[in-house]
Amino acid sequence: MKIINVCGARPNFMKIAALARAFGKCPEIETLLVHTGQHYDQKMSHLFFEQLEIPRPDINLEVGSGSHAVQTAEIMKRFEAVCLEHKPTHVLVVGDVNSTIACALVAAKLGIRVIHVEAGLRSFDRTMPEEINRVLTDQISDLLFVSEESGVTNLSREGVPAEKVHLVGNVMIDTLLNHRVKAEQSNILADFGLSRNGQAQPDHMSRLANERGTAAAGTIPYLVVTLHRPANVDRPDVLGGILSAIQSVSEGYAVVFPVHPRTMQRIRDFGLDKQLGLREVCMPGRCLPGLINCVAPLGYLEFLKLMANAKLVVTDSGGIQEETTVLGVPCVTVRENTERPITLTYGTNRLVGADSSRIIQGCRAALEADYSQLQPPPLWDGHAAERIVGVLLESSRK
Ligand code: UD1
Repeated sequence: MKIINVCGARPNFMKIAALARAFGKCPEIETLLVHTGQHYDQKMSHLFFEQLEIPRPDINLEVGSGSHAVQTAEIMKRFEAVCLEHKPTHVLVVGDVNSTIACALVAAKLGIRVIHVEAGLRSFDRTMPEEINRVLTDQISDLLFVSEESGVTNLSREGVPAEKVHLVGNVMIDTLLNHRVKAEQSNILADFGLSRNGQAQPDHMSRLANERGTAAAGTIPYLVVTLHRPANVDRPDVLGGILSAIQSVSEGYAVVFPVHPRTMQRIRDFGLDKQLGLREVCMPGRCLPGLINCVAPLGYLEFLKLMANAKLVVTDSGGIQEETTVLGVPCVTVRENTERPITLTYGTNRLVGADSSRIIQGCRAALEADYSQLQPPPLWDGHAAERIVGVLLESSRK
C-alpha cells in the first residue's frame, strides 16, 4: 500500500497532523506527503507544520492563490504529474477545500483509489464552494471516513454503498486533544493583556485544563471572532453589519479578531477599519475592552489557547464549531446552516446567520449558557486517525 496524503489549506493541516502521526506508527504503509501550496504564508501554513510537528512535505506543488477554476486546474495539472511519477495505490484527501476535490479528481481518473477523511458532511447550501467540493469528492471516493452520524445518513441517501463508509470520529479533535496542554504554555493571553476566564469546563476537559489560575489583575475577559466566508466578507453592508453587531455586545469584553488575509483586504477596501474604529494590535500589545482588536492570523497553539479561555467565540468557520464543542466554549456561528449538526445537538454551537439583531441576541444568550455538563460527541476521543489506519490495514489484507 502506498498512499499520497494531500494537504493544501490551513484547515487541512490539523487533520493531516493526526494522520501523519498514526501513519508514522505503521511501517506496513508507505506514505508520501504532498502540499498543494493553496495556502503558502508563514502564518497560514509553515507555522502549522512547525507547531504540529508535521513532517516536511515530500513535494510542494506551490500553486498559490487564484480564482477557483484557476486554482483547481493548476493543482490538477501539477498533481497528475506527481501521481504518474510516484504511482501510489491510494490518494488520501481531507476536508472540503479546493485541494481536496482537485487531487481526488486526478486520482479517480488515473484509477487510483481515493480515501476521503471527513466525508459525508452536508450544509445543503450549494452556494458554498466547500459544499460542491464535498459532494463531488464523496461521489468519487472508494473509502469514506466520517466524523459524525449525520455523514453516514447523508452518504446513504446519496447512494454511497455502506461498505465504503466508516464512522471513525474526528481527526481534528485528535490534534486538539493532543496539543491542549502544550497550548496552555503559550504566552498569548499575557501578550495581549487578556484574562483566563475560568469558563465552566465540561468534565472531560477539566482534567486537561486544571492548570488554569484565576484572572490576573489588570487583564480583561474577551470574545474571539473569525470571519472569512465570501458570503460574510465580500459585501460592505454584510461585513459591516456583522462587525457592528459584535461591537455592540462587547461592553466589558475585548473582542480579539485574528483576521484572515482575504477578510483584512476587504476591511481595508470597504474602509470599515476607519468607519468602525477597529484597532490593529501587534503582539505583544494590549487589547482593549469595548473594541474590536484586529490581530494577525495566529499559530495553532496560540489560537487554541485563545479559544479555550474565551467567554464566547463568534465565527463562520466549520472547524471552530467542532473545536468549541469539545472545549465547552460557547460558539455563535454567523451562518444559516451547518454541515456539522452534531455541534448543535451535543455541543455549544448556535446558528444566527448574518442578521445583526440575531447576532446580538445569540451572543447574549450564549454568554449566559452553562455548558459544564457537556459530553463530547461519540468517537471524538483522540483516536480517530488510529481507527482510519486500522481500517486501511484491514482493507489491504483483503
Ligand atoms: C480556503 C478554503 C476554505 C477554508 C479556508 C481557511 C476553498 C474553496 N476554501 O478559503 O474552505 O475554510 O481556506 O482559511 O478551498 N491568502 C494569503 N496567504 C495564504 C493563503 C491565502 O494571503 O497563505 C489570501 C490570498 O489573498 C487569497 C485569499 O487569501 O486569494 C484566499 O485564499 P484561498 O485559499 O483562495 O481561499 P480561503 O478563503 O483561504
